[in-house]
Amino acid sequence: MTSMTRRLVSSFAAAASAVLIVSPVLAAEGDGPEIVRQQWAFSGFRGQFDQAQLQRGFQVYKEVCAACHGLNRVNFRNLVQPGGPGFPEEAVKALAAEWPNQITDGPNDEGKMFERPARLSDPIRGPYRNEKEARAAQNGAYPPDLSLIAKARGVARNPSWWTHPFLMLGDIVKSYQEGGSDYLFALLTGYTDPPADVKVGDGMYYNKAFPGHQLAMPTPLQPDQVAYSDGTKPTVENYAKDVAAFLAWSADPTHDQRKRIGWQVMLYLLVTTALLYLGKKRIWADVKH
Ligand code: HEC
Repeated sequence: MTSMTRRLVSSFAAAASAVLIVSPVLAAEGDGPEIVRQQWAFSGFRGQFDQAQLQRGFQVYKEVCAACHGLNRVNFRNLVQPGGPGFPEEAVKALAAEWPNQITDGPNDEGKMFERPARLSDPIRGPYRNEKEARAAQNGAYPPDLSLIAKARGVARNPSWWTHPFLMLGDIVKSYQEGGSDYLFALLTGYTDPPADVKVGDGMYYNKAFPGHQLAMPTPLQPDQVAYSDGTKPTVENYAKDVAAFLAWSADPTHDQRKRIGWQVMLYLLVTTALLYLGKKRIWADVKH
């Protein structure tokens, strides 16, 4: 062995042992709360959103969450389009016109901005105009816009860093992409009394699923809070599940179409492969090889 190779080998060995020593520390440091995976209508390779569930989920958003959270990247018209809650257009027009948080438009002929009722093409605005207003009203905490929250959150899994590629591969093989909704469900159903040795700060609430366990959102859901019209039981679990499914749709509104087209493309490629194979046999049939 030349000295160069020897040096390379020994530095590699040193790096490898450093990794072995450090990785258990990393694993212990980042352990997030455990989130139980749920069964969703839209799970897996073929899952599609359940329209009735999206409608109930929107109802929960409207009657509960909209008091504090906006949904600015969803426009009223999106509630009509296929693949989503699919409400009738007239109903959504009426809903937009009555939405309490109006749209700032203008300037008018006098150069002034003015407020007007929302139309189908407007975003679903929350109660606050900006982050400062929200924080001032919410005791310093900021209720984030919920449009993309299902993509912005996931299930915290922090084993040793080198296992991550394998976990990702596992997710691809199992087509697991519902981490955001699993977290939302766990968060909304995760309010409990704090353990005896934990002191909860002023204006904070204890939650099993929230990283760090203390957040400024009081438990938003109570049993019997929202009156469902389709016979679904008015429990906190059902509200949480429906609103989590609705927020999965708002973060990924073309989900159903994408999965459907994916299967159609696979079928098309399969047929094309068979045709190309038969064509090749035929064209080369007279050539000895
Ligand atoms: C009374 C106001 C209020 C209501 C009602 C409310 N929230 Fe919140 N929410 C907050 C505040 C304030 C925060 C910020 C908490 C913090 O940063 O500690 C928050 C944070 C969140 C978060 C982010 C948690 C994270 O991981 O960072 C989610 C998700 C959320 N709310 C979902 C909902 C849903 C869904 C509903 C309706 C079922 C709802 N909220 C109803 C005030 C509210």
